[in-house]
Amino acid sequence: MSADRSAGDPAAHVASYLRELMPYVPGKPAEEIEREYGIERAVKLASNENPLGPSPRAVAAMGSAVGQLHRYPDGDGTELRAVLARRFGVTPKRILLGNGSNEILTLLGRVLLGPGDDAVMSEGAFIVYLLATQASGARRIALPAVEYGHDLEAMAAAITPRTRVVFLANPNNPTGTLFRREAWGRFLARVPEDVVIVSDNAYAEYVLDAEYPDVLAQVDAHPGLVGLRTFSKIYGLAGLRVGYGVGPEWLVDVVDRVRDPFNVNHLAQVGAVAALEDHEHVRASREANRQGLRFLERVCRALGIGFVPSHGNFLLVEIGDAGPAFEALLCAGVIVRPVGGYGYPRHLRVSVGTPDENTAFAQALAALLGRSDAGVASLVQDPLDRESAR
Ligand SMILES: Cc1ncc(COP(=O)(O)O)c(C=O)c1O
Repeated sequence: MSADRSAGDPAAHVASYLRELMPYVPGKPAEEIEREYGIERAVKLASNENPLGPSPRAVAAMGSAVGQLHRYPDGDGTELRAVLARRFGVTPKRILLGNGSNEILTLLGRVLLGPGDDAVMSEGAFIVYLLATQASGARRIALPAVEYGHDLEAMAAAITPRTRVVFLANPNNPTGTLFRREAWGRFLARVPEDVVIVSDNAYAEYVLDAEYPDVLAQVDAHPGLVGLRTFSKIYGLAGLRVGYGVGPEWLVDVVDRVRDPFNVNHLAQVGAVAALEDHEHVRASREANRQGLRFLERVCRALGIGFVPSHGNFLLVEIGDAGPAFEALLCAGVIVRPVGGYGYPRHLRVSVGTPDENTAFAQALAALLGRSDAGVASLVQDPLDRESAR
């Protein structure tokens, strides 16, 4: 055998930047915790899912579509693309579809980045931007977060001649922060026209802030602008895996060449089209989230712990040493998300659940802090005001 055969070790041929990749760590499934900790019913507040469940319209439409599962899906997602294009006033050639918006992020990394290229992002931003960058062998330029949010000025200033893409999360996960129109406008004006700006707006439909920039309403504001959204959050379809984006035609064209031929399955396409018309579910989910967030903030105040005001469907709470707190909550049957990997070892991220789930979290947290005396009423969320939630 010749000497350059790496001593018979095929793993040695895998690029070092791939071998060094840290795998994404998802939230623990409730069933796993129930088995491991001998708990009858665990409460999962770890993955920013919709506690009201999937869009009923999507469920009904998918039920009628299962009889077609012997067929391959429409590889172009023609109807879903057409519906999205109409909604956002663009041609279908500008619509990106993915197996979750996660896949779109990964595909953008693959298409836009390679060894020697740079991607700019914020520290503490959604971790998939880093993974997509590393998987392409590119370099991450990460700017420190300011008050848990993106420092757009610093990010624009950090763009190098090798920068191909800037990843932005608005609102950001796991902090729940957002940037507003004025800062966004200044940022857009500073980013060179050959740099792609990925504005990941997975939680856009939850945002109530009047100054929130609606990227999909201004997709021509920069030649490299891509706005991403998902059906996993407010539409309640995380298990279906479907996300979308609007971007420049040349970029959609390249992504279409690189992606798998049937990356969005048939049920996902049917469910997504129906979910887009489920205005009632969206409205109810937004209202339930508003009430749940308010309750969780009240709980934090009652227990004297800090939190980052959130524009998403989750709250970042400052708990002290998060490792033991995470474990203690697990033992109490409440699954939240540690975020040490994001640079926040003193925080836990709690997704907004149903009133019962939020109450379970509040009571487990109070017990953990030895504060079960903290005014019982303040630790119980009233059942949703259905009239305003529906
Ligand atoms: C900011 C952000 N972007 C993208 C995603 C990916 O969502 P999905 O792949 O389910 O569409 C998430 C999921 O948590 C997220 O928080």
